[in-house]
Amino acid sequence: RWPENVQVKEVGPRDGLQNEKTRVATADKVHWINMLSESGVKEIEYSSFVHPKWVPALSDAHEVGKKIKRNPDVRYSALVPNMKGLELALETGIDGASVFMSASDTHNRKNINKSIDQTFSVLQEVVDEAKQAGKHVTGYVSTVFDCPYEGRITPESVIRVCDKLFEFGADDVSLGDTIGTAVPSQVEKLLDAVLARYPKEKIIMHFHDTRGMAIANIMTSMEYGITRLDSSIGGLGGCPYAPGAAGNVATNDVLYLLHGLGIDTGISERKLQEAALYIQNKLGKTLPSKTLASVVNQ
Ligand code: HMG
Ligand code: MG
Repeated sequence: RWPENVQVKEVGPRDGLQNEKTRVATADKVHWINMLSESGVKEIEYSSFVHPKWVPALSDAHEVGKKIKRNPDVRYSALVPNMKGLELALETGIDGASVFMSASDTHNRKNINKSIDQTFSVLQEVVDEAKQAGKHVTGYVSTVFDCPYEGRITPESVIRVCDKLFEFGADDVSLGDTIGTAVPSQVEKLLDAVLARYPKEKIIMHFHDTRGMAIANIMTSMEYGITRLDSSIGGLGGCPYAPGAAGNVATNDVLYLLHGLGIDTGISERKLQEAALYIQNKLGKTLPSKTLASVVNQ
């Protein structure tokens, strides 16, 4: 019933920190990412090469990228919105470029200041250049279920964006429940459409846990054969341009679920806990992960 292995991408250093008010010192980020690099995780999204005024918490992307200790078993990726971001990321060092846009035109405009159609021409060039540089490219699609401005989003709108990202050359797409509103029936409806069109290996699910539905949605996704998930250590995170968006599903909770079901991830829960406690301490607040809290309270 369940897949043997699931690939979990750690997005905490990017999606997690981008919405935090408390600034984490660059040296602490580097130490923390180095801890994550030793946890067995195979991909870490370490920062964003976006405009520093738009996301000040990640304005040290270049320095972080230069200073982290690279584990050859880990793919280090970063978010890039345009050619300028890609150039900076390539100069700094990435294995993977994550481009991003939204299935909702209003959210797309709020987040990256362009319409969906204007974004297509920007990302076509970015994906092409990143592929020519030999990088893995993931295309994020945000607001695949609901948009904070436009409400319900149809699977057709999501597929329109996925088609373009794959046409440009993206290796895979990550489908984002940006504001964490979806329930499993919405996941079923979207995956019915998406998996009729693309192989499941190319689809990653990216759930935010605003309403505590992420684990249920992950179960439904795995029933559909999905084996790739994004999550954030401790449940850190949220999109600064999506009001009400809380953190991603916590990697700690996801690992507790997957390992409990007998699914292999290659990640050490203990090392993940240590890394979560480290960043919790630096942020000076309790992170949302219930699994983490249960360990702390033991
Ligand atoms: P813009 O103002 O439209 O940019 O912003 P522009 O192209 O008009 O350029 C204006 C100035 O910005 C220029 O400088 C550029 O050089 C500079 P000037 O000539 O005026 O001195 N600039 C840059 N500087 C540094 N890095 C860059 C860059 N690009 C231009 N990359 C832009 C457009 C996309 C840059 C801006 O809107 C932006 O940075 N947005 C980022 C928003 C963001 O990071 N949101 C959160 C991530 S998405 C997310 O969380 C969702 C996800 O997790 C999935 C899910 O949950 O659904 C992925
Ligand atoms: Mg996100």
